[in-house]
Amino acid sequence: MRIYLDNNATTPLHPAVLEAVGASLRDVFGNASSIHKEGQAARRGIEDARESVAKLIAAEARDVIFTSGGTESNNAAIFGAAGSDVGQHVVTTAIEHPSVLEPIAELERRGCSLTIVPPSRSGVVDADAVIAALRPETRLVSMMLANNETGVIQPVADVARVCRERSIHIHCDAVQGAGKIDVDVNALGVDTLALSAHKMHAPKGIGALYVRRGLALSRHILGGAQERRRRAGTENVPLAVAFGVAAEIARDRPDVGALRDALERGLGDFDIVINGADVPRIPNTSSVTFRGADAEGIVIGLDLAGVAVSTGAACSSGRVEPSHVLLAMGLTPDEARSTIRFSLSRFTTIAEIEQTIALLRDIVPRCMRKSEV
Ligand SMILES: Cc1ncc(COP(=O)(O)O)c(C=O)c1O
Repeated sequence: MRIYLDNNATTPLHPAVLEAVGASLRDVFGNASSIHKEGQAARRGIEDARESVAKLIAAEARDVIFTSGGTESNNAAIFGAAGSDVGQHVVTTAIEHPSVLEPIAELERRGCSLTIVPPSRSGVVDADAVIAALRPETRLVSMMLANNETGVIQPVADVARVCRERSIHIHCDAVQGAGKIDVDVNALGVDTLALSAHKMHAPKGIGALYVRRGLALSRHILGGAQERRRRAGTENVPLAVAFGVAAEIARDRPDVGALRDALERGLGDFDIVINGADVPRIPNTSSVTFRGADAEGIVIGLDLAGVAVSTGAACSSGRVEPSHVLLAMGLTPDEARSTIRFSLSRFTTIAEIEQTIALLRDIVPRCMRKSEV
């Protein structure tokens, strides 16, 4: 049996989600915009799912639209908030996912000015530093809720409070936070918030965007009037249904943090640094620097022994460059290349954690860089 500890990259389907997708694919083929019974069944599937996803973030269903995933949600919010106005100012953080950093880099190419606020050594971006970066012409701030590599939770509500006072659009990428900690769009005070279903045991290719009521957001996909005219295209009913079921399951969270703590305790006699250990983190993530070791070697060694982990974000593993998140936190390139991300899920067991620690005892010493032995 494989041990899967790379749940921040993606998660396996929950059996109840699989069943719901299968039933929807088999039985509900109608177009949700059609008025006949087949269409109504599809509409019901979508609207029940929207209700469930909205509940996960304490929003109202009519303020949530379905998208193709976290990447589209982030793009829709960022380009939608920026509009076509050049000469404006945008603020984000150095630890964002590429699906935020790249659209913002594109805004810069189109003439916006940009401030990227770095994190502390612990991986938190200080709210006051973000607030200090705001200018009269600032149009948009984008700040993630929890980092995908370290799990560190960011002070979004503190930043949002000031943004709202100054009528600055505040977008939050909550892809890694939702389903792992409580998320309440009103308590956060954000204008838009991105979600992705495949991080919570639903399939890839479906996400959601919360849009505060009354907010003007320019449209990113033009066509039919679906999703309250915010996102054109015939709705993907089976995937929306899957997301709805996954969101409902995610509202009831087992204590994954206890397993993460057991993992970190079990690594106590290794020469390690746990990144973000002293600040609030989502409970499933542990970013561990094995001093002097080659993380890629550890990933391969664990994989051969039946355990899936990663060196960081899925999209940057396979590349030689060290993680932009860890470098921004002040780790050296060598330290970043010695860092493993363990990301657990509701399906992780204590036996899997113990097995992983035992394997690491054997694998890590074999992965020390030559200069270190
Ligand atoms: C923080 C964060 N934002 C956005 C995304 C992109 O989501 P999706 O894969 O649904 O496009 C990811 C996925 O890795 C992520 O971790």
